[in-house]
Amino acid sequence: MVDEKLKEAMTQQVTEEYAAAYVYRFLANEMDALSFPGLSNWFAAQAQEETEHAQKFAKHLIDRGERVQPRDIRIDAPQVNGPLDAFRAALAHEKKVSEQIRNITRIADEAGDLESRGLLNWFLTEQIEEEATVGEIVDQLELVGGDGSGLLRIDAALATRTTLS
Ligand SMILES: [Fe+2]
Repeated sequence: MVDEKLKEAMTQQVTEEYAAAYVYRFLANEMDALSFPGLSNWFAAQAQEETEHAQKFAKHLIDRGERVQPRDIRIDAPQVNGPLDAFRAALAHEKKVSEQIRNITRIADEAGDLESRGLLNWFLTEQIEEEATVGEIVDQLELVGGDGSGLLRIDAALATRTTLS
């Protein structure tokens, strides 16, 4: 059994992670449309990773004897105008997710829930890495600006990603 408030927050997070996958899949398509296959690949890998995050929370609840009910997925569809916009949207999204994870951790602490510590510590660390990785790409895109050869070098570098972590 999981504390009711904690169960509610984790169930919501399952949906939030799937929502993140949906946003990243959309951004992958946008980058594909703009002829940046490497950037598209990066977002596609990120989308895949977000579905794995959703399942980590779902599995945790199921392993503790809970059921996971589906929720409505709501997203603020990002309006992107090029690679820098897309990665800025991704960074803003990751910062939002980091706060959601911190909030679940606060709820777990209030409930004295020891069992979720391992899972939540993993997510807290993961979010530091996510923000750092996306922030680095934003920095690089800002550096090259509209320079075509710079953009293509970043695109080539991100084409090799299979997963983030
Ligand atoms: Fe995530």
